[in-house]
Amino acid sequence: MTTSEANRVIRWGILGTARIASKVGRALHFARGSRLCAVASRDSERAANWISRHTAGHPTADPAKAFLSADQQVIAHNSYRELLQNPNLDAVYIPLPPSLHCEWTCAAAESGKHVLCEKPLAMNLAEAQQMVAACQSANRQLMDGVMWYHHERTAAMKSLLQAGTLGPLRHVSSTFAFNGLADMATDNIRFRNELGGGVLGDVGWYCVTAALWAFGDLPERVQACARYDRGVDINLSALLMFSDSRSATFHCGFDETWRKWFEVAGETGSIVCDDFVNPWDIAKARFWVHDRQGQGTQHVHPHCIQEVRMVETFCELIRSGRLDPRWPQISLDTQRVCDAIAAAARAEKPITLG
Ligand SMILES: NC(=O)c1ccc[n+]([C@@H]2O[C@H](COP(=O)([O-])OP(=O)(O)OC[C@H]3O[C@@H](n4cnc5c(N)ncnc54)[C@H](OP(=O)(O)O)[C@@H]3O)[C@@H](O)[C@H]2O)c1
Repeated sequence: MTTSEANRVIRWGILGTARIASKVGRALHFARGSRLCAVASRDSERAANWISRHTAGHPTADPAKAFLSADQQVIAHNSYRELLQNPNLDAVYIPLPPSLHCEWTCAAAESGKHVLCEKPLAMNLAEAQQMVAACQSANRQLMDGVMWYHHERTAAMKSLLQAGTLGPLRHVSSTFAFNGLADMATDNIRFRNELGGGVLGDVGWYCVTAALWAFGDLPERVQACARYDRGVDINLSALLMFSDSRSATFHCGFDETWRKWFEVAGETGSIVCDDFVNPWDIAKARFWVHDRQGQGTQHVHPHCIQEVRMVETFCELIRSGRLDPRWPQISLDTQRVCDAIAAAARAEKPITLG
């Protein structure tokens, strides 16, 4: 790699003015070697308003969200298609409703852009495979927007698992829930089946990532039960059975107080992380290792902003010119397991993964 290539700033566009785009837009701005250059919306004024709201000193700036400076040139595009035709962009961030992820990821790859696409990657495995194929054939990186993989705490926990600190791993349990039914508008994308709403894709996805991450393996069989309301799954509990009698259980809900924890149990110890998805307090990202007598050691990782790390990892891959197939494979595996869990819940019987 030449020096100029190694220092190249990756130029980003965002498709849609989603709520999560404020957080990730900030990361695209602050990450090393990354710059937010364009935002597109279906509505001609909404993209421009989004930029104003995020620009410090602008009369309409939201003080809690403004991170751009007035001299920064961020272009507002009047449609997603127009942004994809902007030749001065290297990559796009796609925080659209899940039902649009496949269409716009494929279009972005065909227009030569690398793609960071929000979770759940797709509506189903067939769509996810289509997205991976489109990025592969255009030689473009695809990664989903799960941030916790990129936290340095995650690497620290993985090292302990791999070092055998817990003994052979036996069980992973996790929960991700929040009270969306009480706190969110009824037309939120999470409650709209046609847009890919539902609790499994929205937050159960993270619980599945925790089990696959810990075991480094796919389950052989899954079982699940769900409660449906407003046309989508509102809460869901699942059991994942892996080879060698290893197992995982999780619960996800839109109707409970906010929790986002996991426990990984081995034969001689366990790791508990009470906020694996994103730390309650970023200055105190923590986890505990417990031995078989219940002695616990707390580990704290204070200086990592996981969404910034995610963007930096993505930009480094693009600059290196060596795309990493592990990222789309993680998304495909997660999608495959989520599809099986959804089918098991609907059928009310176990499903064997093919
Ligand atoms: N990684 C994370 O931590 C994280 C956190 C939250 C959400 N997410 C994911 O990010 C995605 C967006 O979630 P969000 O809650 O931020 O969504 P949101 O606020 O509802 O925004 C979705 C955006 O999509 C665009 N859009 C295009 N067609 C639409 C349609 N028919 N209905 C509604 N919006 C439409 C809109 O932008 P324009 O109108 O400007 O075009 C809208 O602002 C989801 O996949 C979600 O799972 C990830």
